[in-house]
Amino acid sequence: MTTFSITINGRAYGPAEISDDLSMNDFLREHLGLTGTKFGCGAGQCLSCAVIVDDADGASYTSPTCIAAAASFNGKAIRTVEGHAKDGQLSVLQKAFIVHFAFQCGYCTAGFLNEAQVLLERLAKKPIPRAELEKTVAEALDGHLCRCTGYIKYHEAVLDVILADPKRYLA
Ligand code: FES
Ligand code: FES
Repeated sequence: MTTFSITINGRAYGPAEISDDLSMNDFLREHLGLTGTKFGCGAGQCLSCAVIVDDADGASYTSPTCIAAAASFNGKAIRTVEGHAKDGQLSVLQKAFIVHFAFQCGYCTAGFLNEAQVLLERLAKKPIPRAELEKTVAEALDGHLCRCTGYIKYHEAVLDVILADPKRYLA
């Protein structure tokens, strides 16, 4: 057993005793009922289970939860799909995913959303030239598997969000 504390979507959980072999995915879904984080391949390959990790130094990145022990997140701050909407309003990215019909079954959507959010925050800190945008979005979303839509609509949705606010995201 391990004593475990974590902050999820700004809310503190723990300290609590958890078993060493409890996965982060099971902790979120089974212990907390945060079922927006999906379980797909269970092997670190599809990223449907990815959440955002916010390091204390300001760096944010996504991490799979299926192959990671919950205990390895001890002391960390993470964000899940449940944290994107604020005050009952979907985020700009969530709205763009809907407008573009970016998902069908939605199993991959939380992972794409978290990855795209990390990208937006990265570009807001370090804008890129317009000419690099499509490649940057494609590289950011690469690794997330979708069995339904063919990816292009996710890419178009993220591109639209960025191009709607070029002063913020583009150099
Ligand atoms: S379910 Fe975690 S990477 Fe596929
Ligand atoms: S929308 Fe079904 S897997 Fe992506």
